[in-house]
Amino acid sequence: MTSYKRTLVTTALPYANGPVHIGHLAGVYVPADIYVRYLRLKGENVLHIGGSDEHGVPITIKAQKEGIKPQAVVDRYHTQIKTAFEEFGISFDIYSRTSSPTHHRVASEFFKTLYDKGEFIEQTSEQYFDTQVNQFLADRYITGTCPHCKNPDAYGDQCEACGTSLSPLDLISPRSAISGSVPVLKETKHWYLPLNKHEDWLRQWILEEHKEWRTNVYGQCKSWLDMGLQPRAVSRDLDWGIPVPLPDAKGKVLYVWFDAPIGYISNTIELRPDDWQLWWKNDETRLVHFIGKDNIVFHCIVFPAMLKAEGSFILPDNVPANEFLNLEGEKISTSRNWAVWLHDYLNDFPGQQDVLRYVLTANAPETKDNDFTWKDFQARNNNELVAIFGNFVNRTIVLTDKYFKGKIPPSGTLTDGDRTVLGEFAEVKQSVETLLEQFKFRDAQKEAMNLARIGNKYLADTEPWKIAKTDMARVATIMHVSLQIVASLAIVFEPFLPFTAQKLRRMLSMTDCRWEDLGKSELLPADTQLGAAELLFTKIEDDVIEAQVQKLLQTKADNTAAATFRPADIREQISIDDFGKVDIRVGTVVECSRVPKADKLLQFCIDDGMGGRTILSGIAQSYPTPEVLKGKQVCFIANLAPRTLRGITSEGMLLSAEDSDGQMVLIEPITPVKNGAAIG
Ligand code: 2FM
Ligand code: ZN
Repeated sequence: MTSYKRTLVTTALPYANGPVHIGHLAGVYVPADIYVRYLRLKGENVLHIGGSDEHGVPITIKAQKEGIKPQAVVDRYHTQIKTAFEEFGISFDIYSRTSSPTHHRVASEFFKTLYDKGEFIEQTSEQYFDTQVNQFLADRYITGTCPHCKNPDAYGDQCEACGTSLSPLDLISPRSAISGSVPVLKETKHWYLPLNKHEDWLRQWILEEHKEWRTNVYGQCKSWLDMGLQPRAVSRDLDWGIPVPLPDAKGKVLYVWFDAPIGYISNTIELRPDDWQLWWKNDETRLVHFIGKDNIVFHCIVFPAMLKAEGSFILPDNVPANEFLNLEGEKISTSRNWAVWLHDYLNDFPGQQDVLRYVLTANAPETKDNDFTWKDFQARNNNELVAIFGNFVNRTIVLTDKYFKGKIPPSGTLTDGDRTVLGEFAEVKQSVETLLEQFKFRDAQKEAMNLARIGNKYLADTEPWKIAKTDMARVATIMHVSLQIVASLAIVFEPFLPFTAQKLRRMLSMTDCRWEDLGKSELLPADTQLGAAELLFTKIEDDVIEAQVQKLLQTKADNTAAATFRPADIREQISIDDFGKVDIRVGTVVECSRVPKADKLLQFCIDDGMGGRTILSGIAQSYPTPEVLKGKQVCFIANLAPRTLRGITSEGMLLSAEDSDGQMVLIEPITPVKNGAAIG
């Protein structure tokens, strides 16, 4: 067996097109952080490389929707994501980004090396092209009717209604999502990595030499390999990304999945410009990729094929991919806002990062999809962190303070019972270690928690508070043993709950934190003065959880309303002359009040720039406090024949639109204009 001198841990680069949520933490970043913190505690040579994935079509779509440049989108989210990770204690050695100049250079050179070695094939194919905006359309930019379920809004890569993977050519009646026009097929040339050429060694390497990989990872690779690998395009027709570094490649960029994993290399170079090769090109380095299950094929098949084709890089030793975390029984979805966003969590639960880390690890989706529920979050906090961990530590510190003025008492004479307890907690070290090295973080944390259980039970069994009047020597021994357990907790929980472990170390005046000391019976010397007591965990009350559940129910209601909304059919076509007959103007609301005995009517007094007019509008239920409309600009049809309702003559009609939840919303100019200005 090869022995390793260093470990390079990478975590999937999240797309910088939105904030991060609990699914990201549970799937990738918390397990990776536990692993690197554990290796560091053992004194191993380890680097944790991360960063944002800043290319790809979803980013350009977001930019287009907001009317800003893709760079502005990634700048915003890169900063937000980086901050969220910092706040949750994810200990990266570097968190960089794929829009960095280093990455552009490294990815370009990587492509060029493969190109020069003849590792690509060039192929021309027909792809959809939007003639109105003069550009090829990425799969996501084409919509049409799904051939399977007839959903009229399926994307070129997937139908979100029935979940089927599609290719743009499968869509019935395709349309460009950019201009709405019907796209045409046009030939385009791209560079492909012939994965079929790599199939034999990949089979041997994964299926024979890495049988220890997680079942889900191994199984997915096997099914890909059994289906037979096909050449994969590594370039795209897009204007956002790293330009293909060839003379005849205008308008073409590297495919995001080609450049993103190279980001691991670029970020290592940025961090360690002088010895990065030791981390990527030396057999004594162990490379471990932490990812979610949707990234398995890229990290186990495509990226290794790229590295092999280049020729001088090591391959991953393990790819501990997680399954997905669901939220209250449903798939987490950014577009449906079905998520617990990390920045929201920090607002609602300030200083309680470790509680979330604990719950996410306790429910880690290691072997199957798992569920996060607020009830479980509350139960794990109250019944485990508060009742077991916090309670044991708190009792130990308070009693030491009370009986020994906060000084660690000498051990005195140990009983057989004390020795059994010390023996039990020494065993915890071995079991946690074995589990962590097998990437079984959930079980490892459970095992670490046993240490707190041992401590709690020890105090409950020995009841030092009952013998304080009669046998102080015995109390000293009990507190001495209990404090040693607390010290071990400070070590064993450093990878899992780093903020809590740090508080414990401060409370115990511990200067060192080494894995090798875990479980030792004389970790804290007698006579050490303890630091000030700190609060570790607090009970979470029902109303706090209820508020979170309500927030999700509101999201669900909003989603249902949005999903059931269907725009009305377009009315019969009219000529420009027909349109010209309608005189639409802008005015300002001077007064607005309810019409007595008419539930639906509001009476508006409008400054129309021409002496003023009265307009009645049936939108009272959408504006329960009509006073707020005073001073707003509105649009109205000025030449509609007057009508009298409830004795009031209405001289026109206000323009409003129906919102997805059935509310009417008045139309207002984006910036104020003169009253009486004509719209057209
Ligand atoms: O799935 C994702 O979020 C991708 N941005 C992960 C990229 S991982 C790596 F290749 F950089
Ligand atoms: Zn469908």
